[in-house]
Amino acid sequence: MIEFEHVSKVYASTVSAEGVQALDDVTFMIQKAEFVFVVGPSGAGKSTLLRLLVREEVPTEGEIRVGGKNLLRLRRRSITRLRRLIGVIFQDGRLLPDRTVFDNVALVLRVRGAARDDVRWRTQQALRAVGLLPKEGAYPRALSGGERQRVAIARALVREPVLLLADEPTGDLDDESAGEIMELFKVVNTRGTTVVVATHEQGLAARMRQRTIQLMAGRVVKDSGGAV
Ligand SMILES: Nc1ncnc2c1ncn2[C@@H]1O[C@H](COP(=O)(O)OP(=O)(O)OP(=O)(O)O)[C@@H](O)[C@H]1O
Ligand SMILES: [Mg+2]
Repeated sequence: MIEFEHVSKVYASTVSAEGVQALDDVTFMIQKAEFVFVVGPSGAGKSTLLRLLVREEVPTEGEIRVGGKNLLRLRRRSITRLRRLIGVIFQDGRLLPDRTVFDNVALVLRVRGAARDDVRWRTQQALRAVGLLPKEGAYPRALSGGERQRVAIARALVREPVLLLADEPTGDLDDESAGEIMELFKVVNTRGTTVVVATHEQGLAARMRQRTIQLMAGRVVKDSGGAV
């Protein structure tokens, strides 16, 4: 499903001429329907890894394949098509401030041209799954950080993605809510969705007993499973 082959990413930097090395010779493979944690301290390269997967960034070196397709060779249209199959929960949420919770989640379905009843049913299902149905009419500014995070999760789940990428999805949640979200991801995973969760909370990954790829200063220092 996902292949990283000797991937390095160097960002241009205003503070050093050689730039910032966010990823350094990263190689791994994730099979379809796997559940994988990417862990590591702040700055280790976790978000960079996810941004490369949706082609928001391109690698400085190496190759990335998703569903057998080399991301560097994709044209704009194929990138759009690829992104439709991926549910992404970004670290910063990225909710639309002028839309309600319901509309934030419903938007992807409407863009696809889903029927009105279908939009309503599926959006409410997703909001119920994250415990936010009572707030469907609220605007993001009226939500707590944890609630906003759960809206972002509902928005990713509503597309029934083939691949779910989550960047610190439980950062603003207490242990109990974090556990509930992880259980939800597990259910989604059981239905066949490949799940990749980036987190600096190693304990969370350990509790879930899933494969863990550990990053340190841009390098894979440990991979508890999978054929590399
Ligand atoms: N757009 C950018 N331009 C320049 N440097 C960047 C950019 N994005 C990330 N970096 C740098 O790349 C390194 C890896 O950043 P990244 O965001 O991938 O880490 P992370 O593991 O997600 O950290 P965190 O746990 O804090 O979210 C850091 O040193 C960061 O400062
Ligand atoms: Mg990050």
